[in-house]
Order: sequence, then C-alpha cells, then structure tokens
Amino acid sequence: MSSRTIQVAPFDLVVFGGTGDLAARKLLPALYHRDHAGQIPDEARIIGVSRRALTREGYADFVRKSVREFVPGNAIDEAVLERFASRADYRAVDATGEAGWSDLAQVLADGRDRTRAFYFAVSPELFAPLSQHIQEFHLITPQSRVVLEKPIGKDGDSAQEVNEAVGKVFAENQIFRIDHYLGKETVQNLMALRFANRLFEPLWNSGNIDHIQITVSEDIGVGERGGYYDTSGALRDMVQNHMLQLVTLIAMEPPDAYDSESVRDEKLKVLKALKRIDERNVEQVTVRGQYRAGSVASKPVQSYLDDIGREESNTETFVAIKAEIANWRWAGVPFYLRTGKRLAERVSEIVVNFRHISHSIFDHTAGRIHHNRLVIRLQPDEGVTLEVMIKDPGPGGMRLRRIPLDMSFAETFGVANPDAYERLLMDVIRGNQTLFMSRNEVAAAWRWIDPIIAAWATTGQRPSPYSSGSWGPSASIALIERDGRTWFEDSE
Ligand code: BG6
Repeated sequence: MSSRTIQVAPFDLVVFGGTGDLAARKLLPALYHRDHAGQIPDEARIIGVSRRALTREGYADFVRKSVREFVPGNAIDEAVLERFASRADYRAVDATGEAGWSDLAQVLADGRDRTRAFYFAVSPELFAPLSQHIQEFHLITPQSRVVLEKPIGKDGDSAQEVNEAVGKVFAENQIFRIDHYLGKETVQNLMALRFANRLFEPLWNSGNIDHIQITVSEDIGVGERGGYYDTSGALRDMVQNHMLQLVTLIAMEPPDAYDSESVRDEKLKVLKALKRIDERNVEQVTVRGQYRAGSVASKPVQSYLDDIGREESNTETFVAIKAEIANWRWAGVPFYLRTGKRLAERVSEIVVNFRHISHSIFDHTAGRIHHNRLVIRLQPDEGVTLEVMIKDPGPGGMRLRRIPLDMSFAETFGVANPDAYERLLMDVIRGNQTLFMSRNEVAAAWRWIDPIIAAWATTGQRPSPYSSGSWGPSASIALIERDGRTWFEDSE
C-alpha cells in the first residue's frame, strides 16, 4: 500500500492559544507529522500567539518540546524537527486589548499572498474579540480562514452569539468548525463503507436494521480539565458534537457528491429529524451518571468529586440516550448512544444490529440463529467486523454459529492511522470544508440538546453514581434491556 502525499500551498498558520495544551498535544505534533511526510512546503510558517512574553527562539523550544513529548520517539527525525522548529515564530498579543496586534500584523505582512489560517485554540469567549481585532488590524486577506475549536457555545443561544460574532468578520466558507471525530480515519471510512459498496446501502433502513448502538467510552477521568468539565458535562462535551456527528454519518441519505455542500446538507437533515426529548420522556430515554472511586485497569482511582475538589456536583460524566430519527428511513429504529469517563476501557464503536431472518429453514439442532452485526471500531484498534452465520465446520450435521469477518486496518494496511488533526489541518489549508460542521449543523444539534438539559432541570434528574472501571450506572443497562436488547459487550 502506498499513500500519496500532495504538498499543500504555502501558508501562515496563526495559532491563538499557541502555548496551550491543544497546541502542545495535538496541533504541533500533527503538523510535525505532515512536515515529516513532505506535505508542508518550505515557505510555510507557524505563528504562535498568546499573552505570554516569549521570544521566537523561546517558541521554537516550545515546539521542539511538544513534538518530543507527544510524537512517538521512532517518528522523530532530528533534521525534520529542526526544519519544523525553524518555521515557528511568535508574538505576544492581548486578545481583548490592543497590545501586540500591530506586531502580529507586521509579521503577517510578508505573507499576503499565502493561505492564511487563524486557529482559535482558546476559550470561546475570546472568539468574538479575536475576530474583531483581526478585522480592525486588517489581517484578513482573500485567502484567509478561521478555525474554531469546540465548544461552540454552551447552548443554542450562546452558540448563535459566537457564530454571529465570527460571521460578521468571516464569510461562512472561511469558517472551519472543527470536530476532531470527523478527522478520524474510520469515521471517514463510514462514508466509504456506505457509499462505495453495493452491499450495505440496500439494507440500510428500518426494514433491515433493528437498532444501532454508538459507544464512546473513555477510561480516563476529567484530569486537569475539571474546571471546564464541571460546567459542561458529558452531554455537551461529547454528545452535542462528536456523537451526533457520528449519528449523522450513519443516518444521512446518500449525498449527491462527496463535497462539503452536499454532505453537510444531508447531515443537517438528520439533525433536524431527531425526535425531541423533553420533560415528557426524558426519564424514560436518558440516563445520567457520575463516577465514584473504583479501579481502572487494576489501578485505584478517585471519584469525580475528588477529581474536581468539590463536595457536590450535578454534572454528569456519563450519559446514555435512546435517540430516534423521525423520517421514512429510520422510524422505529432506536439509536442507543452512550459515553462516559472512567469506564471499563477506552473504546469507540458503532454497532449496526440487523434484524433477525424472517424464517428459519433449520430445526432446533442447528442452534440459535443470531442476527448479523456490523461493528465499526473507531478506536483503539480501528477496523470493521461483519458478523455472519456459518455452518460449524466438520461432521455432526448442520450446526450454525456466528463468526466475525474481521478487518483490522492496522493489520491490513500495516500503517498506523494518522491523527485526526493531521487530516483536518491540511483540509483547512486546502480550503476543504467537507469534514467540518456548518453553522446550521451546530444550531440544529443544540436545538436537540437544549430541551434535554432543560428537562433534566425541571424533572430534577440527577446523575446516578457508578463505580470507576464499570460500564456506567445500572440504569444504562436497564435503558436498553427494557427494549429486549443488550449492549454489545454484554451480548453473546
Ligand atoms: C474531546 C472532549 O472533545 O474529546 C474530551 O472534550 C474527550 O473530554 C475527547 O476526552 C475524546 O477524544 P478522543 O479522540 O480521545 O476520543
């Protein structure tokens, strides 16, 4: 297998929050990998921006340190790392005041013809003042674009405010709202699987699919992010964006073409068709949980409250939802969504459960005929498994059993998948918005989430405790078992 690397056009990437956690862990390592692969042209520059006073050399050190810490040792090539660090420049800028902006303008003046990308890796309250200053200091060129990191707002109204403030300065086709799940290789593969095969699409409907499960479980706790997390919770942090994006890709109608307008239009229709959850049904179809102390991978870990240093919190670190899509294709097919921190293991997977066969020609000696399942693993071991019934080999009559037709991408292709940010950053430079969320999508997602949050408040639904290292509160098992179904890991 060979992969093609096509160099992108020369660019200036201005990272606001340039010395922050996201830059260190994700953005700089991703850019280093792309540089290593030969995708970044010589002229490209990375301009770190934050409040901190730092020299250009100081920032180059930060870049080296981040790469050494977050890129596996065997992928570090000293010559490439030096070339990469030499792309770095730095300016101290006050996001809400005037200090530093003319300096930044001066650095950028050299690159007026290049692609210019502003990356807002900062808290969303700063999106509006940053956009205003960018405009005031005439930093926008025809080749400019802006990248917004999540969270975009904490409800529909605040998201609208952010979108309006940024929209006053940048046109919609210049705004890249990042959801890093869309950059994951297997998530893109979902589209290949559905739309580059004859096999699945004719079966992709309520006539043939019984239900769908999406699990995004993490074994980590909230770590250092307690301050942010406690004002957010699992529903806002994971469902409003990542999980709903997965739902849209599974459920959307085939777009006319694989381009941003067609794909995003179809995704939007799914979000609009989500059946409303409010105080009438919230207790039947949602479960909230919060982790207690326990043990994860045989190591003792403390509770959420201890992690955030508070005695009480009504924030959920786990959520399970029975969602439904009210349209012709999906009516009556539940989408069971589940995500949480400090769960038994880190796994993200989509399980498409097909209906049972309509009639069995075999007698009871053949054993039980299980339904087919398509399991799409996003992480850690990316791949696809199709579970089918076959005859148990050998003599002894017709005995049936379910076996996995398993494809692990790492084994098949022999290469590790690139990090989602590698793909997405290059798409920003190329100006391809297909894997980014449109303003309407963000708004539609909040329109479904807001009534759930409101209903939790009116009904007083508090998070149920669960032990760290489990699969969440028992109510989550009950949620699916009430319908005569089981979560994937509990099934045979
Ligand atoms: C982020 C959330 O968007 O996604 C985090 O804010 C979460 O809370 C992370 O840990 C999960 O991403 P990944 O790629 O590790 O599954």
